[in-house]
Amino acid sequence: MPRIWKSKFKDHDVTPRGAYLNRRQIMAGAAGLGLGSLAGPVLAAPTGLEPNPMKDIANYNNYYEFGTSKTDPAENAGGLTTAPWTVKIDGMVDKPGDYQLEDILAKAQIEERIYRMRCVEAWSMVIPWNGFTLASLLDRAGAQPGAKYVAFETVQRPEEMPGLRYPVLNWPYREGLRMDEAMHPLTILATGIYGEDIPNQNGAPIRLVVPWKYGFKGIKSIVRITVQNEEPFTSWNDANAQEYGFYSNVNPDVNHPRWSQATERVIGAGLFGSRRETDMFNGYGEEVASLYDGMDLSKNI
Ligand code: MTE
Repeated sequence: MPRIWKSKFKDHDVTPRGAYLNRRQIMAGAAGLGLGSLAGPVLAAPTGLEPNPMKDIANYNNYYEFGTSKTDPAENAGGLTTAPWTVKIDGMVDKPGDYQLEDILAKAQIEERIYRMRCVEAWSMVIPWNGFTLASLLDRAGAQPGAKYVAFETVQRPEEMPGLRYPVLNWPYREGLRMDEAMHPLTILATGIYGEDIPNQNGAPIRLVVPWKYGFKGIKSIVRITVQNEEPFTSWNDANAQEYGFYSNVNPDVNHPRWSQATERVIGAGLFGSRRETDMFNGYGEEVASLYDGMDLSKNI
């Protein structure tokens, strides 16, 4: 069954796959930028972004609820029921409740954002997301001024998610952001890729994308968003706090205890692959570095 949000796209909100290059080049030429954002303001981003083909994006995944190998999610996530879908928004909000995804999307301004994704495992891709700002949803829910953090939870459905049988992480998968990170205009909730429904293995029907952080902060298949004052519990930090900090900003100068973060393997770069140097904040420093003024990023990993 097609998910209802698709009908919410206006013609100009979706770029057909074939038109991607053109539009991207036009935007790059006009603004010297490589970031797609049709409905919203154009935000600076790393240049030279060539989106990976869908076959890379949808077949090389991390979604441990469906298994820990890169191809497990594509093989096993097809059975996840993604409609109807409810997102509970609670905690320090004026309008807590169980929000139906179709209601969220009815009022959402869907934009296109071509972002680099840098996994903590030192590989990267470029993904053309469709989504809307997390800030717009938090505003709608009446997030209270002064609240410090936002916590997120992935759906937990053992009958549909075979990986939940294994205690790889403390399920459900949980993540969190500081409020200023959550409200930042680069932070989106994605519902599509290449103008199509987001594949289940990529986090259908709604997942977080925070392009300046390691990919694991981008929690998939979100069913709960809680605004709170305590730093949220996060699954990877719980699994190994030395290796996975709460912030997890992409940082080539701070190595993972078991490997270097100075470079990354570009997925889909051909037979011999290719590596590129990892950029501080994944290339989004101009937009986000000020969020961390005065913080020692070698300690606050
Ligand atoms: N969200 C959930 N619920 N479970 C996961 O295992 N993996 C994370 C993140 N979100 C993960 C998750 C990791 S490690 C990465 S790199 C990205 O999803 C991968 O996103 P992608 O498969 O869409 O490329």
